Amino acid sequence: MATTDYKIIEHTYDVVVVGAGGAGLRATFGMAQKGLRTACLTKVFPTRSHTVAAQGGISAALGNMGPDSWQWHMYDTVKGSDWLGDQDAIEYMCREAIPAIIELEHQGVPFSRTEEGKIYQRPFGGMTTNFGEGQAQRTCAAADRTGHAILHTLYQQSLRHNAEFFIEYFALDLLMEDGECRGVLAWDLAEGTLHVFRGQQTVLATGGYGRAYFSATSAHTCTGDGNGMVLRAGLPLQDMEFVQFHPTGIYGAGCLLTEGCRGEGGYLTNGNGERFMERYAPNAKDLASRDVVSRSMTVEIREGRGVGPLKDHIHLHLEHLGPEVIHERLPGIAETARIFAGVDVTKEPIPVLPTVHYNMGGIPTNYHGEVVNLVDGNPDAVVKGLMAIGEAACVSVHGANRLGSNSLLDLVVFGRAAANRCAETVKAGAPQKPLKAGTVDALVERFDQIRNASGSKPTAQIRAAMQRTMQNDAAVFRTDASLAQGVAAITELYNSFADVKVADRSLVWNSDLVETLELQNLLGCALVTMTSALNRKESRGAHAHEDYPDRDDGEWMKHTLTYVEDGGQVRIDYRPVHTYTLTDEIEYIAPKKRTY
Ligand code: FUM
Repeated sequence: MATTDYKIIEHTYDVVVVGAGGAGLRATFGMAQKGLRTACLTKVFPTRSHTVAAQGGISAALGNMGPDSWQWHMYDTVKGSDWLGDQDAIEYMCREAIPAIIELEHQGVPFSRTEEGKIYQRPFGGMTTNFGEGQAQRTCAAADRTGHAILHTLYQQSLRHNAEFFIEYFALDLLMEDGECRGVLAWDLAEGTLHVFRGQQTVLATGGYGRAYFSATSAHTCTGDGNGMVLRAGLPLQDMEFVQFHPTGIYGAGCLLTEGCRGEGGYLTNGNGERFMERYAPNAKDLASRDVVSRSMTVEIREGRGVGPLKDHIHLHLEHLGPEVIHERLPGIAETARIFAGVDVTKEPIPVLPTVHYNMGGIPTNYHGEVVNLVDGNPDAVVKGLMAIGEAACVSVHGANRLGSNSLLDLVVFGRAAANRCAETVKAGAPQKPLKAGTVDALVERFDQIRNASGSKPTAQIRAAMQRTMQNDAAVFRTDASLAQGVAAITELYNSFADVKVADRSLVWNSDLVETLELQNLLGCALVTMTSALNRKESRGAHAHEDYPDRDDGEWMKHTLTYVEDGGQVRIDYRPVHTYTLTDEIEYIAPKKRTY
């Protein structure tokens, strides 16, 4: 089919948001509220976005359960990031957390309550009082369904403010002209038509790429679509070597059991029944940060102290909490454990294993949500017309390791920041120049080629090989040998996409084609993840390199930028970490020796 034979429908908006998870919806309704004509495109129904699965909560130093301050929250986040987080962005997030959560409450999020009627807050890993001295209760919760509660509220607010939704539209590629983003090309999955969305700003809120791995807590829709589009546009991804493993995925199924389980008093044991976290993190114990707990569990299993006939997992105990606490605070967990592990959590422990959960890396941005690139020596050069927020972005508030409950916060704070920025930079209804001849055609041609791909490799075969390689070679612990093997395997798989086979040529509800387009996005993410992991010769946060066990601030306290070139060649460059704060209300936080 000639590209001119496709039916292409054109739309012009002030702002085009791609993705309707927590970040996308917070941005969408914020922009609509400020009088900007806003379109939100999403490949799934908004309330099915992966944010709905977030369980344990959203952090903010409200101080409802004891003393707290945003400065303590900031200290924990910088330390949790293993000093790779940008401190201006972290200050912004921790400070803005407080008004952003109060806004959510007023918008209708049904948070759990204390006896006095305040928002209930639970302890989470790495969240401390007084710069590391005590355990903070900072994570605001709606039982163990906090993401569900927030997502539904944000969707309702978006409808209230007349944002326009394009539901079950798959975004294909960015419309780039002279280094500027002019919008996005999308495919309407139900009607089979192609759509050009022009906008003064395009905001990518497309989530993470957990599905590059075999076992992940992420939904099957988490396929790094925005990241893939950015790589194809010749722009970089940042810090992709940092992939977080959540300590408590259900053994076998991979489903998430919230860190809130340990926040409410749950604990881990090995095959000898020992509470081993006391050895690895004598102060924080089971509530040490996730990278620490995941590594400790992996060491226990490796050294033969795992649970079960194969000694290949760990036990999470909630039985001692009693049915009342479980049913009030962790009802979803009780249900998940019953369905996916066949366990009654009031009576027996749950088998768990570290499982891929979050991508710290993504599209580099400043704290307004504007995408940045390294241009002529300027590491903070803004890419005109393009923003990114949420897990798709790397702002970078999580650095090398994210603290639990800082993700929902990141979505809400930076979705809101993007809306505020657009209110300053976008003029409602301003005319937009026409697109150049050829801009759309080139993108339609790629779509058409993949739709008609008649190679020898089914999508599922390439995907399975990619997921196995990522799981084995870019795991909790990495070595030069495993990563070099991984880079060779992933590069071959990346190039094998040229031989992919799509069996269904239709344009209406063609899930074969959707999965193939998603696979291409995942392959780009997998390639740069493995390559930047091989490149980084130190251990930091979630990147635990056995050949280089120490953090090396002299050489490696810098962000990795990765660009994909022809033949799957990855070009690597760097941006400096922002070690400055926005105000003088907190002292510069310098790297210290790890003291967990
Ligand atoms: O464990 C959890 O509830 C997950 C929270 C998070 O990743 O922030």
